[in-house]
Amino acid sequence: MDHTGYPELDALLPRLAAIPSLDRGALDAERIAVLGRKQGALTAALRAVARLAPEERKAFGTVSNGLKEAFETAFATREAELAAERLDVPGSTLDLTMPGRARWIGALHPITRVVDEIIAIFRELGFAVAVGPEAETEWFNFGALNFPPDHPAMDMHDTLYLSQGPGERLLLRTHTSPVQVRVMQAGPPPYRVLVPGMAYRNDTADASHTPGFLQIEGLAVDEGIGFVDLKATLTHFARRFFSPTTKVRFRPSYFPFTEPSAELDVECQICHGKGCAACKQTGWMELLGCGMVHPTVLTNCGVDAERYTGWAFGLGPGRTAMQRYDVPDLRLMSGGDMRFLRQLAGQEDA
Ligand code: DAH
Repeated sequence: MDHTGYPELDALLPRLAAIPSLDRGALDAERIAVLGRKQGALTAALRAVARLAPEERKAFGTVSNGLKEAFETAFATREAELAAERLDVPGSTLDLTMPGRARWIGALHPITRVVDEIIAIFRELGFAVAVGPEAETEWFNFGALNFPPDHPAMDMHDTLYLSQGPGERLLLRTHTSPVQVRVMQAGPPPYRVLVPGMAYRNDTADASHTPGFLQIEGLAVDEGIGFVDLKATLTHFARRFFSPTTKVRFRPSYFPFTEPSAELDVECQICHGKGCAACKQTGWMELLGCGMVHPTVLTNCGVDAERYTGWAFGLGPGRTAMQRYDVPDLRLMSGGDMRFLRQLAGQEDA
């Protein structure tokens, strides 16, 4: 309705237009202010009919009744809208106009993200995923991997033993390397596998150790595989994981199950090689241990060491995640502090 032809009625039109945006309190007050029997603005305007000539009264009556109906409809419509908004069931305390509670949004754990990413990079290179048991015999964990019988890693203060009964002792695997043995025993080469899983050592928890920790083992065995394949593949991996320009270096090392053995360092991700507290001023961070699979290990697993060669590596995704996300203490990763986890998941505190 634009205008009615009667100034006293036209004066009410803006109030009609405003009704759809009134809140509950204002709506009740406005209904009384407009339609109230005694004080209502429309009621007062209708009294103007008395001043009109008798022949004009009918037309005015039609228009003013139309306006009254328009007001009544507008009030009723707004009333219904507000009622629907707050589910105006008699006796109900449900108020849908209350502010909502922030919803919990789940996210992958930072170490899970690192594991998934590493598996994805190696999958492109043809590596499958294998798993093995966490409770192992000494033979799988040590013997088959060419540890001499008196190796210090087998001492009680390093290894968590599960049973002391007759026969072979069971232990919690101290690394994922025994799965190399299980993979090789399961069928003939070639093998290209990645083995994510938990490993356990009798360590006291500190900033870079926890008694239980994830590892990822890698194993590639085929005809004609050399150290150059190890270097090329692991360098490619480090650059895919960190950045294409990340510097890497291989350092000679020792493991009973590889010969030669090496350790792969990447340029410190925090100071980019300048030297900082995180890298103990060296500019480098240790990423993984690796080497050419020792011929004795191949033989122990029934693989013809004259025909096949291969390389392997072992990496701790927990420490890798510390480097990637600049986390100063490994214990934070398993501490369950939601404030810490939310930060890494890119989520603000609710
Ligand atoms: N098993 C070793 C550890 O837990 C890591 C490792 C080093 C695994 C060299 C390998 C390897 O497969 O070739 O410290």
